[in-house]
Amino acid sequence: MLKIGLIGCGTIGTSICKAIDDGTIEAELFSIYDRNMDDVNRLLSTLKRSRPQVMEAATMITEIDILVECASQEAVYEVIPAALHAHCDVMIMSVGAFADQNLYRTIRGLAKDNNCKVYLPSGAIVGLDGLKSSSIEDIYSVTLTTQKPPSGLAGAPYIIRNEIDLDKINGKTVIFEGPASEAVKAFPANVNVAATLSIAGIGFEKTKVKIVANPALTRNIHEISVKGAFGEFTTRVENVPSPSNPKSSYLASLSAIATLKKISDPFQTGT
Ligand SMILES: NC(=O)c1ccc[n+]([C@@H]2O[C@H](COP(=O)([O-])OP(=O)(O)OC[C@H]3O[C@@H](n4cnc5c(N)ncnc54)[C@H](O)[C@@H]3O)[C@@H](O)[C@H]2O)c1
Repeated sequence: MLKIGLIGCGTIGTSICKAIDDGTIEAELFSIYDRNMDDVNRLLSTLKRSRPQVMEAATMITEIDILVECASQEAVYEVIPAALHAHCDVMIMSVGAFADQNLYRTIRGLAKDNNCKVYLPSGAIVGLDGLKSSSIEDIYSVTLTTQKPPSGLAGAPYIIRNEIDLDKINGKTVIFEGPASEAVKAFPANVNVAATLSIAGIGFEKTKVKIVANPALTRNIHEISVKGAFGEFTTRVENVPSPSNPKSSYLASLSAIATLKKISDPFQTGT
């Protein structure tokens, strides 16, 4: 049975551990860690059957089959290279860390040299299956359009730098258009979605991102349009927040659970 170690006992980490605990994912929850012990204890109190050990990443990586990171971009730098050196597979949620191309190249290289797998769940977007298939042939364009209520963009570096008054927006307004490489810096809250899409498709420079403020919305919407030799497709997801954290999309937690379920399942469906 797959032995899982997990770093980050917040919203996504708790959802994953509960899914292992209730048998949705057929695996053993061997160990967990969080730099905040309150989060560790809160997570442990939600488990009915699993009794994971609490240990730091450096210790758990010699004991487990796969390390699940659902903590922060910082944690990707701290724990993933060491896990790969220890021949441990990894699943990474803080995919935005790969906006740092050096980190991306390092982790790719380490995975290859140590014969390990790096899993990046789809997160809060849909359509990566089609994008992966279409990338076998030429892709002409990939565009991510994110629509949010204006308040959902508050605090973004781009909004602050350009002194955009979000309270004055009274209709659907395009706030930003540019390559994913710029979008991840301008709107860090979009960073995971843009990074996953760029890695699966045509990279951070060629992937285009459009950010739209829409006062009529209560949910965050991600639309992906891909054109290529295969033809074209568009996907659209309206994300509801996680029941336990209004800032996190529920689909992101579900995609993490689905990825681990797929890894532990002998029957693989879909691209
Ligand atoms: N791939 C996606 O589509 C997607 C979607 C949502 C969130 N995320 C990312 O997944 C990560 C987890 O999201 P969440 O909503 O569960 O966050 P959260 O804030 O609810 O939980 C994160 C937990 O990790 C812990 N933590 C942070 N840095 C750590 C470190 N260096 N070492 C140990 N523990 C650490 C925190 O104390 C916290 O308990 C975030 O980086 C977030 O950006 C990715």
